[in-house]
Amino acid sequence: MSRKVALIGATGSIGRQAVEIVEAHPELELVAAASGSTPVDGLAPLTQVGGDLTELLERAEPNVVLNAVVGFAGLPVTLWALERGVDLALANKESLVAAGALALAARERGGGRLLPVDSEHSAAFQLQEGRERDSIHSLVLTASGGPFRGRTCDELADVTPEEALAHPTWSMGPKITIDSATLANKGLELIEAHFLFGLPYRQIEVVVHPTSVVHALVRFRDGASLAHLGYPDMRVPISYALTYPNRAATPVPPLDLTSGLTLEFEAPDLDTFPLLRLAREAGERGGTYPCAYNAANEVAVAAFLDGRLAFLAIADVVEETLAAVGGEAAADLAELVESDVEARRLAGDRLKVSA
Ligand SMILES: NC(=O)c1ccc[n+]([C@@H]2O[C@H](COP(=O)([O-])OP(=O)(O)OC[C@H]3O[C@@H](n4cnc5c(N)ncnc54)[C@H](OP(=O)(O)O)[C@@H]3O)[C@@H](O)[C@H]2O)c1
Repeated sequence: MSRKVALIGATGSIGRQAVEIVEAHPELELVAAASGSTPVDGLAPLTQVGGDLTELLERAEPNVVLNAVVGFAGLPVTLWALERGVDLALANKESLVAAGALALAARERGGGRLLPVDSEHSAAFQLQEGRERDSIHSLVLTASGGPFRGRTCDELADVTPEEALAHPTWSMGPKITIDSATLANKGLELIEAHFLFGLPYRQIEVVVHPTSVVHALVRFRDGASLAHLGYPDMRVPISYALTYPNRAATPVPPLDLTSGLTLEFEAPDLDTFPLLRLAREAGERGGTYPCAYNAANEVAVAAFLDGRLAFLAIADVVEETLAAVGGEAAADLAELVESDVEARRLAGDRLKVSA
């Protein structure tokens, strides 16, 4: 049976790989494609550039929505799919981080599936499928460590956007690549995992694993641990989410264990990369702290990419914004958007001080 796919964020790194996956599978049909500003004419029968993308979704009537938008801008798409019980293949982690409680309530009402596309979360999802929650001791998310792993703060003071954009193992859009260099990406993923799997933060650990071959690991209460391995290639989790539960074939080769795989793990350096620590704190405080973390980070990363902010000051902007917000839980979407706007305003004020 054909699955009608709506691809939102079709022109980005995830979006382009998703088009490749859809084209390779006759059972997947791209019924709608959208972007923020880049033309998408001809990519699907229904297309839209910018504006209210839920209008496109209403017309397209998809079976699955792949949300590959970057940033908080992806929130309406996430909520649209969850509220209607349409399967959501979620790459746009920022929407779940910012609106976790509202998104889970929408999923509860809608009753659809939330299929993670982030490689670590896809792995964690597969490792936990069919397991009793009580049997899980803890979840381990792996981080490549980014291009600046092992450096000291002094060595990071003058790094340029070009240096930060040179990721060692993943080829991705600019925002997530900077987030990988600061470890904010793993911070966002920690909060994402909390909402996706309902695990308390104390049961979610992050370890640095430079070759990105192990994507996640689950420790069980009997002392056994299961790991998910594969070459770092986003087409695998994209395909898994779009063809779930069939696990369709992809062009990615099977893992060759005899060609010198390196499986090393180390603790993250939370002093040099405080954004991971700040994410855990924001997640544990709950309310709209994760929303503020995400908003301030988006503002700071954009300023860094524009050459208006130093690399190390990204964390300062986020930390100071978190100290300034109220953090009360949002009762509805309007209150959440207010929190996002307020955190962006506060982060913008910090930028002026840092400039
Ligand atoms: N890239 C990866 O390997 C990877 C891995 C795991 C998770 N993710 C997550 O997947 C998401 C997308 O990442 P990416 O690397 O693919 O980003 P990207 O290459 O920058 O692409 C972003 C996409 O979002 C669209 N977009 C931006 N603002 C929009 C708006 N206001 N309304 C509608 N569409 C908008 C862009 O359209 P335009 O072309 O018009 O700007 C583009 O299609 C992020 O949340 C990221 O964290 C990515």
